Amino acid sequence: MAKTTPKTDNSDMHATLYALRYDRSRDDLWQMLDRLYGDHPGYGDFARKLDKTLRKAWDARPADLRLLDLKRDLEPDWFQRPDMAGYVFYIDRFCGHLKNVPDRLDYLRDLGIRYVHFMPCLKPRDGDSDGGYSVQDYAQINPVYGTMKDFESATRACREQGISVCVDLVLNHTAKEHDWAQKARAGDPVYADYYLMFPDDTLPKQYERTLIEIFPDNAPGSFTWYDDCQRWVWTTFNEHQWDLNWANPQVFLEMTKVMLSLANRGVDVLRFDAVAFMWKRMGTRCQSEPECHMILQALRAACRIVAPAVIHLEEAIVSPAEMLPYLGRGEHDGKEGNLAYHNSLMVQVWSALATRDTRLMTHVLRTHFPARLTNATYATYLRCHDDIGWAVTDEDAAAVGLNGAGHRAFLADFYEGVFPGSFAKGELFQHNPDTGDKRNSGTCASLAGLERALETADAAEIDRAIDRILMGHALIASFGGIPLVYMGDELGLLNDYGYQDNPAHAFDSRWLHRPRMDWDTALQARLHPDNLSGRVYHGLRTILARRATVPEFHGDIPIEILETGNSALFGFARQAPTGSVVCLFNFTENWTSVPVGWLRQHGATGLHELLSDAIIRGEDGTIALPPYARVWIR
Ligand code: GLC
Ligand code: GLC
Repeated sequence: MAKTTPKTDNSDMHATLYALRYDRSRDDLWQMLDRLYGDHPGYGDFARKLDKTLRKAWDARPADLRLLDLKRDLEPDWFQRPDMAGYVFYIDRFCGHLKNVPDRLDYLRDLGIRYVHFMPCLKPRDGDSDGGYSVQDYAQINPVYGTMKDFESATRACREQGISVCVDLVLNHTAKEHDWAQKARAGDPVYADYYLMFPDDTLPKQYERTLIEIFPDNAPGSFTWYDDCQRWVWTTFNEHQWDLNWANPQVFLEMTKVMLSLANRGVDVLRFDAVAFMWKRMGTRCQSEPECHMILQALRAACRIVAPAVIHLEEAIVSPAEMLPYLGRGEHDGKEGNLAYHNSLMVQVWSALATRDTRLMTHVLRTHFPARLTNATYATYLRCHDDIGWAVTDEDAAAVGLNGAGHRAFLADFYEGVFPGSFAKGELFQHNPDTGDKRNSGTCASLAGLERALETADAAEIDRAIDRILMGHALIASFGGIPLVYMGDELGLLNDYGYQDNPAHAFDSRWLHRPRMDWDTALQARLHPDNLSGRVYHGLRTILARRATVPEFHGDIPIEILETGNSALFGFARQAPTGSVVCLFNFTENWTSVPVGWLRQHGATGLHELLSDAIIRGEDGTIALPPYARVWIR
């Protein structure tokens, strides 16, 4: 039989690859869009335009990124590997300008970082922009940080060093100064349909019966009245952030263009901001409605067709049961977010540190989270640029004998630093007297006790604070997922009270924990492992370096949260086919111990402690664990 030689001509390959990728994701995309928009009068036209958009973006995709697409199609677990660790910063606060990013990559590589999140970097509105989350132009970089060219050079420099780049894409709202919003405001009906505008307050009032206020303090309510256009506009967050109308397929089309254009500029991870709020339904909280997940699956599919190297991080700071679907559950299994913030883990770490009791943490993480996820993993973190909301449900609190409201109020007082005996220093964020809800701001180090310990020059307390910081990081580095280090936490940077003097920030205590990078301290820390910041820096560096060598910490390896039977200890086993690694953390300032038999029973038969790379010996059949111990035992 005559053999047909496959054509290897480049342009042919280009078309074939596109066709194959389109076939792979066709159903994932169109089944969602049919359901979301199929009844819309303009659906046929929308479908043609979307196809054109995808093809155009694919044709425009630079050659080096296409190569990366191939590589990541072959290694789809690239972001789940144990050598992945992220670092989150504001361009200006970290290094002044995008042009300076390449000079700082050595520092990040030395720390063990393989992923950087440039905090919102698209062009925001002037004045207060909610830290950049009020975007005026999605096609431009914030001029203070540089140009689109500078941005592309920065992503290229990162790529050359094996560092992936994450940027924010705000999907739920635009600034009211965005071109679309301005046209809507001027009365253009096409653009009015991009937003949620009402001639009187009948519907807004009905919606508000079930909505939850996000910024009750400085931006109460979820709607804003504009005299000039005689309209109420849906503004979930701040007045200047206008919610988009995702029920309009045109909004999907526009945002897909933005998404793919960022992908083609060398972005590896797109952080979809505030995704829970994208779909509105009367009589609900308008959070995490099923349509949010359909939209997110469709965006994921569009990206997999054009730019499979790119993954999606979904920001939904919600309860455990509500968060998991963002990682793709049920019909969306393996098809939605590749990453989502593990907010519960973060909250539980701080909760257990305050109470010196791990029972609530063990209960929550055992009850609500599966052993593994498909094509997805968590973004684990201790601190980020936002406040900490004490997301502990009444049911979970009751399960371990706590009163939900009481415990949440305790945590807010503890981390504000006003609870007697608290080691923390922080501030309140968005106290809502109507609901009693209080959230907190503060840097990792200040919340962990370092600021107070330094004020009282208490050497033992300083040691404890550093141990809390390092234990927390050892925990997020072994749990499964990409551990994210928030800028400055690697040096133990303290609260920055200077924000109170800046009128654009003074009302928003989240600026307390958005300090400027202190490069002198960074230099000293690298050189002097024994000074204060040096201990934090080198401690964290060791944690990330050791993590990178532990195959059991791959994101795809199942986790079992263990009942330690000891309220001081939180523990889990990462259960690889080759055997388990048991990770244990002592949340108290007292010595405790664990029976060797118990460790063996959970698969840690070799008693090889991976952080210190030593074989541990149990005296009298137990292993002693010092205050704030963190051990990874194989
Ligand atoms: C996200 C951001 C937060 C911002 C909000 C509104 O939650 O993390 O900083 O205020 O979205 O865009
Ligand atoms: C709310 C939102 C969350 C956002 C935060 C900002 O908690 O749910 O998305 O990060 O507000 O403070």
